[in-house]
Amino acid sequence: MDAIRIRCGPPLCGRVRISGAKNAALPILCATLLSDGPSRLRNVPALRDIETTAALLRFLGRTVTVETPEVNVAAGSDVRPEAPYELVKQMRASVLVLGPLVARFGRAKVSLPGGCAIGTRPIDQHLKGLEAMGCTIQLDRGYVLAEGPAGGGRLRGAEVCFDLPTVTGTENLMMAASLAKGRTTLVNCAREPEVEELARVLNKMGAEVNGAGTDVIHVVGAERGELAPFDHAIIPDRIEAGTYMVAAAATGGDVLLESARLEDLEALVSKLRQAGAEIAAEGENVRVRRTAPLRPVNATTAPHPGFPTDMQAQFMVLMCLAQGESVISETIFENRFMHVPELHRMGARIALRGHTAIVHGVPRLRGASVMATDLRASASLVIAGLVAEGETEVRRVYHLDRGYERIEAKLGALGANIERVKGADA
Ligand code: EPZ
Repeated sequence: MDAIRIRCGPPLCGRVRISGAKNAALPILCATLLSDGPSRLRNVPALRDIETTAALLRFLGRTVTVETPEVNVAAGSDVRPEAPYELVKQMRASVLVLGPLVARFGRAKVSLPGGCAIGTRPIDQHLKGLEAMGCTIQLDRGYVLAEGPAGGGRLRGAEVCFDLPTVTGTENLMMAASLAKGRTTLVNCAREPEVEELARVLNKMGAEVNGAGTDVIHVVGAERGELAPFDHAIIPDRIEAGTYMVAAAATGGDVLLESARLEDLEALVSKLRQAGAEIAAEGENVRVRRTAPLRPVNATTAPHPGFPTDMQAQFMVLMCLAQGESVISETIFENRFMHVPELHRMGARIALRGHTAIVHGVPRLRGASVMATDLRASASLVIAGLVAEGETEVRRVYHLDRGYERIEAKLGALGANIERVKGADA
């Protein structure tokens, strides 16, 4: 397994280009199942999750060419509406093929994703919505067996109220509703920018989706049995952008993020400004710098437009260096503090009380060998390595490769002293 070795260096300075949004690319690639025509997705990041999704689509019978930043998908052999455990266990977002498959082909057999490091990650809301649309759902030996009405017929529009906002749940049902008969109303939806981006693509494909980005989405199913193909360039990755913002603030640097959308990160930007960072839009770009001492700031994660759970670990590292006490609460996932024991090894002072971390700032962190456990925790450890005295080695960086394109090249170009160590100890 690879590791990333970081030595404390100068403040980050320069320009970094933000890649396309992973969490927009994944549902949109699954939406290609709603059409047989050749679809093209542009500004796609070169990430392991993109390769995993391509492998899944090929398994389902699609022809997929991944030449990032471009991915082309078209019908291939007959569709085999089955997503096996071997692929789904690598990436939970594989569950996003469920809605398109059962809406287009009348049936689907998709492995339950299983849990992951940050939580149990149930999909009950996805299944509840599909049942409301006439699907028969059976759970059999770790698989979801879904069948359209009357043994594989067309889904029908329904009113579905989510018990809680779920990003992929909203996306799955938007895609299913696009080919269902009649109108569907989805209530208590996730409002993430990636949900809006999927809706844009579905409408480009001839669907009729209104309200994405709000908590109520209306969909009128297309009369014909499939949608048209699309050609689309996806939005930049707001979590990658937020991660580089935190890295710039942590190192006291001055970084221009090319192709970043300030409007997608208002909650994070507000907290970073309270902490002492100066953040300003410059056309299509965003400049982040920090010269003032870091101030402690409390943060509680919430569904968009609240403070993103995917930025909680990175922000915590920043608070480890602030002059005072910060309280950070995680309300979305049940086990998203695994970066804390690793930060303790680097001299951070963090006390955990259930889903709340009380962070006492320290003057310096100290470099150490640390273990990546999940995607965003890995990013927080890299940021910690940028500011810690001495050398930090982050192991099991395959987690990092799922969501950050060429992170060591991008940070190196900003002046970081960083290298990838191939085949390091696990
Ligand atoms: C999406 O995951 C993102 N992944 C996650 O990003 C992100 O952390 C998460 O949304 C929250 O913003 C993708 O978009 C591919 P949820 P998702 O369904 O859709 C509970 C990353 O780092 N829930 O919005 O799986 C669930 O347990 C990843 O890029 C149910 O109870 O998250 C959680 O507590 C990590 N039943 C909460 O809802 C369900 O049926 C929010 O989960 C579905 C979800």
